[in-house]
Amino acid sequence: MPSLKNKVAIITGASSGFGAEAAKLFAKEGCKVVLSARRLDRLEGLASEIRSAGGEALPVTMDVSQPEQIENMVQSALKNYGRIDILFNNAGFGRLDWLEVLDPVKDIQAQITVDLLGVIWTARAVLPHMYSQHSGHIINMCSMGGWAAPPLYTIYSAAKFGVRGFSEALRRESTPFGVKVSVIYPGGASTEFQKHMGDNEAKKRFKTPDWLKLSAQDVARSVVGLAKWPRRNLITPWWMVFSGFVNSHFGGLSDAVQAKAFAPYHKFDLHPERSGARSKGD
Ligand SMILES: NC(=O)c1ccc[n+]([C@@H]2O[C@H](COP(=O)([O-])OP(=O)(O)OC[C@H]3O[C@@H](n4cnc5c(N)ncnc54)[C@H](OP(=O)(O)O)[C@@H]3O)[C@@H](O)[C@H]2O)c1
Repeated sequence: MPSLKNKVAIITGASSGFGAEAAKLFAKEGCKVVLSARRLDRLEGLASEIRSAGGEALPVTMDVSQPEQIENMVQSALKNYGRIDILFNNAGFGRLDWLEVLDPVKDIQAQITVDLLGVIWTARAVLPHMYSQHSGHIINMCSMGGWAAPPLYTIYSAAKFGVRGFSEALRRESTPFGVKVSVIYPGGASTEFQKHMGDNEAKKRFKTPDWLKLSAQDVARSVVGLAKWPRRNLITPWWMVFSGFVNSHFGGLSDAVQAKAFAPYHKFDLHPERSGARSKGD
């Protein structure tokens, strides 16, 4: 049975959702966890919870859109624990709306910065230390939106497709030197993600049924499983593999299903001016 005992794991986006749950599980497996995000009060609360359960945790405030803060976080991890074995590169958010409604800076630039550049900068910051140890494992958080891109997910999917390409190249670059790279692609899950999504019409009216949603604990278990049994890619829930397959091989079918599921403008008369233009054009 592979063991994570005494490994040092950095978790970005540890103040809620997948990151917080993964941090608890990594700690339970015996890892020393470095908890990073912007909300220090949340990180400190989580660190005390982990410590009272007998684990070791270091909360470090960090905005992943600021490379110097990432470097400081990595230095704190090294100063306190001397090495870095695992990076769960997870911080991110999605602002999902019609492209022309998204603000160029607050929505578009911010998403690309946090969801893509943040992942790249954090991986880049830990790599030299992993190379010098000749070991390490980077687990990058993607999304099914990084495999099959739904309407209203333009920028989020652009960032997550970027994470996918970045991870594939980095894996091929770093594996010969002992550093593994994995990517996890979860489907919809109940976390605070929804709070930051924006108030777009389609999302207000169309909600993923609860029985289809993963919990943060489900995803955390998959992440810890990946750390124990490294794989290139992990899609969760497993049956979403079919959605990836259909998207790659049956584009027309995937277009129809995704449009119906994510932007049901026919049903709810969203964007009536566009529906008019569409029917005239048809
Ligand atoms: N929930 C889903 O349906 C779903 C599905 C697939 C993939 N994902 C991905 O999973 C990851 C985690 O999301 P979640 O569902 O757990 O959502 P969440 O509960 O909102 O957690 C997001 C985490 O990212 C952190 N974060 C956001 N912006 C940051 C910044 N600029 N600097 C540092 N940390 C930042 C947040 O912390 P602070 O606000 O304290 O900084 C928080 O800890 C994201 O990459 C998301 O794209 C989510």
